[in-house]
Amino acid sequence: MYSKIIGTGSYLPEKILTNHDLERMVDTSDEWIRERTGIVQRHIAADGQMASDLALEASRRAIDAAGIQAQDIDLIILATTTPDMIFPSTACILQDKLGISGGGPAFDVQAVCSGFIYALATADMFVSSGKCRNALVVGTEVYSRILDWTDRTTCVLFGDGAGAVVLTQSNQPGILSSHLHASGSYNKVLAAPGNICGGKIQGSPFITMEGNTVFKFAVKVLEEAVSEAITANNLQASDIDWLIPHQANIRIIKSTAKKLGIPMEKVVTTVDQHGNTSAASVPLALDIAVRDGRIKSDQCVVLEGVGGGFTWGAVLLRW
Ligand code: COA
Repeated sequence: MYSKIIGTGSYLPEKILTNHDLERMVDTSDEWIRERTGIVQRHIAADGQMASDLALEASRRAIDAAGIQAQDIDLIILATTTPDMIFPSTACILQDKLGISGGGPAFDVQAVCSGFIYALATADMFVSSGKCRNALVVGTEVYSRILDWTDRTTCVLFGDGAGAVVLTQSNQPGILSSHLHASGSYNKVLAAPGNICGGKIQGSPFITMEGNTVFKFAVKVLEEAVSEAITANNLQASDIDWLIPHQANIRIIKSTAKKLGIPMEKVVTTVDQHGNTSAASVPLALDIAVRDGRIKSDQCVVLEGVGGGFTWGAVLLRW
C-alpha cells in the first residue's frame, strides 16, 4: 500500500511587508534583498494570530480539496519552529480548532526548515503501513516573532505562512521514497538559542545565522538528498517533472537545480512572494503549483528542504 496526497492548502496572513518597508526599518535596500535572495515581500501574522491559526486556514483548504471531512483525519503531524506555546503541541491545538474529537495521534515535528519534509516522511510511514487512514500534514510558522527587527542580516529573509496536505491510503503509487538526514554538529550555525528558565528567557530568543556557511551547506546537501531520491527509484534527473524546493533563497534554489541538471522551468519558486517561511515553504509552493494546474496526474515530483540542526531531506512521489 502507498500513501498519496489527495488535497493541498495554504494560507498567508493579510499583512504584507515589502522590501521598501524594510528600507525604512534597517540599513538595507530593495535592490540588495532582490539580488541576494530573490525576495520581494513577506507576509506578517497579525497580533495574536498564532501558528495554529495559520495552520487552521491551510488545513481547512487542504481538507476541502481532498473532499473529506475534518472528522475523517486520524493523524495530525505539524511541523513548526514557532509553536503557540511550550505545550501542548500546536498539532493538538489545531486538532481542537478543527473540531476533531476523539481523534488519532497528533504531534509536532521540530526540524526547522526541513520540518515539512520530516513530517511528510513520518506520516507516510503511518499511512502506507495501514496504521492511519487520513493524515493531515502541516507546516506553519510565525517567524516574525523570533526575528530581531534591527538585524538586517536576518530580518529581511523570513516571513509567516502555512501549508498543509492530506495524505491517504492508496493502491496507486504516491510517495515512493523519503530520505532524511541530520548533522547536529552544525547546531550553532543557524539557531534561536534562547530557552526559558525560571520564567525568564535565557540567551537570545532571536534567529542567529552564519549566512555563508548555511548557503554552501544547503546547496551541497540538497543536491545530495535529491540525487539519493532519484537513484533510489532508478530514475534520472530528466525523469523529474517538478522540483519543489524549500523556498529560502533563489540563489540556493538555482544553484541546487543547476548541480542536479534540472532546468528552472521544472522548479517551482514562490520565495519572491513570501520569503523563507521555514516549515511552511514547501507545502505553500506545492499548493500554489497544484492549484494553478502546473502539477498534473502521474507526474514525478521531488520535495526537498534543509534547515537548522542541520537537518535536510527529500521526498519523491508520483502525483
Ligand atoms: N542589506 C544590505 N546589506 C546587507 C544586508 C542587508 N539586509 N545583510 C548583510 N548585508 C551586507 C553585509 O554586512 C556585508 O557587508 P560588508 O561587505 O560591508 O561586510 C555584505 O552585505 C555582504 O554580506 P554577505 O553575508 O557576504 O552576503 P551574501 O551574499 O552571503 O548574502 C545571505 C547573505 C544571508 C543572503 C546569504 O548568505 C544567504 O542566503 N544565506 C543562506 C541563508 C538562509 O537561507 N538561511 C535559512 C536556511 S534554511
